[in-house]
Amino acid sequence: MADRRPCIAGNWKMYKTGEEALELIGELKDLIAGVDDVDVVVAPPFTALSVVADRIKGSNIQLAAQNLYWESEGAYTGEISPTMLVSTGCSYVIVGHSERRQYFGETDSTVNRKIKAALVHNLVPIFCIGESLEEREAEKTFSVLDKQVSGGVESIAADDIGKIIIAYEPVWAIGTGKTASNEQAQEVHHFIRKRVSDLYGKDIANIVRILYGGSVKPNNIVGLMVQPDIDGALVGGASLTASSFAGIIKFKIS
Ligand code: 13P
Repeated sequence: MADRRPCIAGNWKMYKTGEEALELIGELKDLIAGVDDVDVVVAPPFTALSVVADRIKGSNIQLAAQNLYWESEGAYTGEISPTMLVSTGCSYVIVGHSERRQYFGETDSTVNRKIKAALVHNLVPIFCIGESLEEREAEKTFSVLDKQVSGGVESIAADDIGKIIIAYEPVWAIGTGKTASNEQAQEVHHFIRKRVSDLYGKDIANIVRILYGGSVKPNNIVGLMVQPDIDGALVGGASLTASSFAGIIKFKIS
């Protein structure tokens, strides 16, 4: 975790209607009132962004969207622009989640365009990367991640790289209850930081926060957070219940 400020983000995926979202955020707000040493981010579905934005005003919770399109406006039926996200109260946006790569055809190149659009609009991109089980078993983890990292940040200025949050989510650990071991996760996070260092230098690599995602729960967060290159978590299932998400946010390293 080093000196970097921890960030715990909840990806609600395609869960929670507006009403359900309000209930969840209300409970969470109470449970984590006073937490000021962690950046807490929630990413509700688009249809719940407005109500959640309203409810978290003045609190220690910040808002993310789960996706964006790279144009500011235009005839792009069904898409949502960075300008719209900013005006709804978002300060972060998840980009290139493995579910979007897997089911919606996102590629390193579209992910790169989205990261650039987010940066232009001062949205912090939470840039997701991760290998599948087949890729890990074929010992391709590092080459896959190398390609995802360099493709995702292609032609982005060094000054902007420090603003990006990278989320390493091994696809085989998402929603499966299988987490990477602390050592496996640290090994990959270290590799990612080294790649950022090779591309942009040590100072920038030391600033970039790298979150771990994949079956993070209150009972495994501490083991992850003590690792030197793990700066937080991107949480799916456990962010859908206020008590478990609060348990992750309030992790304490003894
Ligand atoms: P789970 O925490 O449900 O495994 O999901 C992880 C994830 O995909 C977060 O973006």
